[in-house]
Amino acid sequence: MFNSTVIKRAITRSRFQSIRLNSTVKLTKDSYPNVARANYAKLTDEHIAKFQEILSSNQLITDKDELLNYNEDWMKKYRGESQLLLKPKTTEEVSEIIKYASEQNLAVVPQGGNTGLVGGSVPVFDEIILSLAGLNKFRSFDSTSGILKVDSGVILENADNFLKEQGYIFPLDLGAKGSCHVGGVVATNAGGLRLLRYGSLHGSVLGLEVVLPNGEIVSSINALRKDNTGYDLKQLFIGSEGTLGVITGVSILCPPRPKSFNVAFLGVESYDKVKETFVKAKAELGEILSAFELMDHNSQVLTKNHLKTSHPLEEEHPFYILIETSGSNNTHDMEKLEAFLENAFESETISDGVIAQDETQIKTLWNWRESIPESSQIGGGVYKYDVSIPLDDLYELTNAARERLIEADLLGEGKPVIDAVGYGHVGDGNLHLNVAVRHYDKAVEKCLEPFVYEWVSGKNGSISAEHGLGFQKKNYIGYSKSEAEIKLIKQLKGLYDPKAILNPYKYV
Ligand code: FAD
Ligand code: MLT
Ligand code: ZN
Repeated sequence: MFNSTVIKRAITRSRFQSIRLNSTVKLTKDSYPNVARANYAKLTDEHIAKFQEILSSNQLITDKDELLNYNEDWMKKYRGESQLLLKPKTTEEVSEIIKYASEQNLAVVPQGGNTGLVGGSVPVFDEIILSLAGLNKFRSFDSTSGILKVDSGVILENADNFLKEQGYIFPLDLGAKGSCHVGGVVATNAGGLRLLRYGSLHGSVLGLEVVLPNGEIVSSINALRKDNTGYDLKQLFIGSEGTLGVITGVSILCPPRPKSFNVAFLGVESYDKVKETFVKAKAELGEILSAFELMDHNSQVLTKNHLKTSHPLEEEHPFYILIETSGSNNTHDMEKLEAFLENAFESETISDGVIAQDETQIKTLWNWRESIPESSQIGGGVYKYDVSIPLDDLYELTNAARERLIEADLLGEGKPVIDAVGYGHVGDGNLHLNVAVRHYDKAVEKCLEPFVYEWVSGKNGSISAEHGLGFQKKNYIGYSKSEAEIKLIKQLKGLYDPKAILNPYKYV
């Protein structure tokens, strides 16, 4: 019989930023000595005085210790040495800052919640950090159409909580929701946990307000669902990772919030059975399927070590799946889910599982999935590969990487690598290969790069499914884009940002 165990403890989500007074993170310029500082101006007292005319004193940070949290990335892999953080509160302030930076040839890194996972949100050298955290106003919500307009610095979870009160839901959800910004997720074109249901931000973002690298404000924020007047320019900024303009406002189409959510956490004996379960879930759960997440055994071992609590399933399995359904009628949805699970259990597609019985248990089950990134990072560091691969070969990359690390004698007790874990959004053909390490180590990096990118390219996949290219993958774009495409990307960058002041050393 299917086991509906009651889960007793919920674990609260952690926020990622806290004030610290020193850093053990190596400077990016020392870890990657082949990258040279370009010919940008160096920050002077005169520049700071001008920024003080634009902003009030509490919107400028020059204190070294306070700057630490903004100079370092979430993975503790990259660290810049910016001497200035600017926190504008309005689009006009952003515009004045960028206009002056452009005139003075000062490089600028736009930063949202600093939860990005490719080193794109922090400076490489001494670029000025432009935090969008002060642009945090809700502009409007139309309860007939579901269109929300917000400043780009609104935290994703705050946007969703606001929508919840209106009976709507933000069409994107991810583990970093408590820290990442609406503008940040748009700038990275984040995918998240429910892309399967709500699609990509390229579809749901209706309009953007952007400050161009010369300071000009371009607004398509008064967006309509349909507007075929020429090029759809906003699409270029979605996923541009702060290299083409600073997003200051977002208008997004939000769906009604489902009235009923159900979550099942399942144990599965092979990757082939994961695929079988996915096919069955799509066929039998149909319109109520809203997430289908894969976690391998090792990802759950790391998470258990981190959460220090009992796993939802008593027995261990090679693979685990989290299935979420959401719909409008709980009795109907639960009946459908239970019938699907009974069927999958009887045909031995799945071998174990639990269904959450209330909201607390739903959160607890999700926590075993959402805590994997943090659990893989806390041992000392993590090499992250976020790739799209056709479903037949999706998980195989994890085995290939592990074997390669073992052959190179880099994995195991007393070695740099703790383990290689695989998890991700099966519904989107997106695997996250995380190599958890005790410390960052060039030998590990050389063992995995470009190996992983070559492997993915060999399967006609993409070297970035959702996190972007940032600093980490800037030299590897050729594995996923043709020369003609790269030429066009460079031409567009030259057109929008001729002085290349926005987010240099990344992406383009
Ligand atoms: P930042 O990290 O600050 O910046 C990211 C990039 O966008 C940088 O290049 C920056 O320059 C640029 N940028 C930020 N704001 C702006 C702006 N207003 N204008 C122009 N450029 C800007 N990603 C997924 O796709 N799916 C997931 O499921 C997912 N889960 C995550 C879970 C955890 C625990 C963590 C830590 C990260 C996760 N991510 C995921 C990574 C993801 O990219 C970020 O969480 C999010 O999209 C970045 O938002 P942010 O506000 O933190 O942006
Ligand atoms: C996730 O799906 O959890 C994220 O994209 C974050 C990660 O890969 O670490
Ligand atoms: Zn993801």
